[in-house]
Amino acid sequence: MTARHDAVRIIEAKRDGRELDDDEIDWMVDGFTRGVVAPEQMSALAMAICFRGMTDREISRWTTAMVDSGTRMDLSGLTRGGVVVPTVDKHSTGGVGDAITLVLTPLLATWDVAVPQLSGRGLGHTGGTLDKLESIPGWRADLDTDEMRSVLSRTGAVICAAGADLAPADRALYALRDVTGTVASIPMIAASIMSKKIAEGTGALVLDVKYGSGAFLPDPAEAAELARVMVGIGAASGVRTSALVTANHTPLGRAVGNALEVAECLEILAGGGPDDMVDLTCELAREALAAVGISDADPRARLGDGRAMDSYRAMISAQGGDPDAPLPRAAHTEQIRAATTGPLRWDALGVGRASWLSGAGRTRPGEAIDPAAGVVLHRVEGDHVHAGEVVATVHAGDEGRLPAALDELAAALGTGADRGPAGAVTGRRRGW
Ligand code: URA
Repeated sequence: MTARHDAVRIIEAKRDGRELDDDEIDWMVDGFTRGVVAPEQMSALAMAICFRGMTDREISRWTTAMVDSGTRMDLSGLTRGGVVVPTVDKHSTGGVGDAITLVLTPLLATWDVAVPQLSGRGLGHTGGTLDKLESIPGWRADLDTDEMRSVLSRTGAVICAAGADLAPADRALYALRDVTGTVASIPMIAASIMSKKIAEGTGALVLDVKYGSGAFLPDPAEAAELARVMVGIGAASGVRTSALVTANHTPLGRAVGNALEVAECLEILAGGGPDDMVDLTCELAREALAAVGISDADPRARLGDGRAMDSYRAMISAQGGDPDAPLPRAAHTEQIRAATTGPLRWDALGVGRASWLSGAGRTRPGEAIDPAAGVVLHRVEGDHVHAGEVVATVHAGDEGRLPAALDELAAALGTGADRGPAGAVTGRRRGW
């Protein structure tokens, strides 16, 4: 039998609903990484997994195979001020307006921990953490491992791009899933996220598993299931993992777009900012700190007293950024007004798409983005508005992008009973 036939047999097995054994999973992931399994074969298997699902054992093994496709970092002896500190990280499954990493990472670093945050760039309507930070003049995402460890030791916090050797099987598979309609699969989302976090070498992890129109999974029950599966994978791999299940039916905060979200994060680090962002940041901080044995933490106090801001400035400077430099501003803005009177609703997906159309997001990997583009909401879900009142502003460097973004934003705007704030925590799970 040739390798091509082995792959066909494994695809057929999953197509017919059979549980794959460990050897089959290892062989398939390794073969795909080495180019022995063709992309069309891996795509077919991904689609079969979408329909048939995977058992917890298969998902764990698939995750381990993806971790083993590259190198696993060892951060166990990392020191700050000469003292070994625990590592703790946070990951969000992605939502509209979710810039919490920019605040949470330096906030956590005000305790004696290290936060190794390996992040990605955005694709489609959800923004990427690196794109947001790249709107800060001078800031660099690409650090080698020595630089990353050095920034972590000096400041306790680093946010940088994952190296090419971190779970390369996931990198290649994610690119395929993106163009074959196979992203929205609980086993594959869980394995994709957890393989990167396990390979990164963090000792503890808090997950923000989002549901609603702005998230990968619209349904809260599916998000709760994703949380269960990811926490189980973390526990099986020795990472102290917990998850909050949170709402993203409407955008988190008021800003959607790269520099606009950085500006909002600076407000939070200065002790202000939107309540939904502050509340969720503090919830995630308490959960992350509990995982490393710090149970009496008061994150809100450290946002208010300047410690988190000092930590952020140190982290940005250590990566070449100028925390005092003005952020880019769009040359063109246009406002949108409420059409009717009543309690306002914003649909997260629509607002995310409006920001993307204004130039803040990319259609293909590697495409340039407009750092200043995006949407600022002046009134948020649940606010009572009057017809004709200004409720949002679209920002764009390219004036020609404004009409489509405004149309999309108008379609995202509605009225109706309050559905509660973005970021509301509706489920929790701990694996330790
Ligand atoms: N984020 C990831 O890293 N992988 C997924 O599959 C979905 C979201």
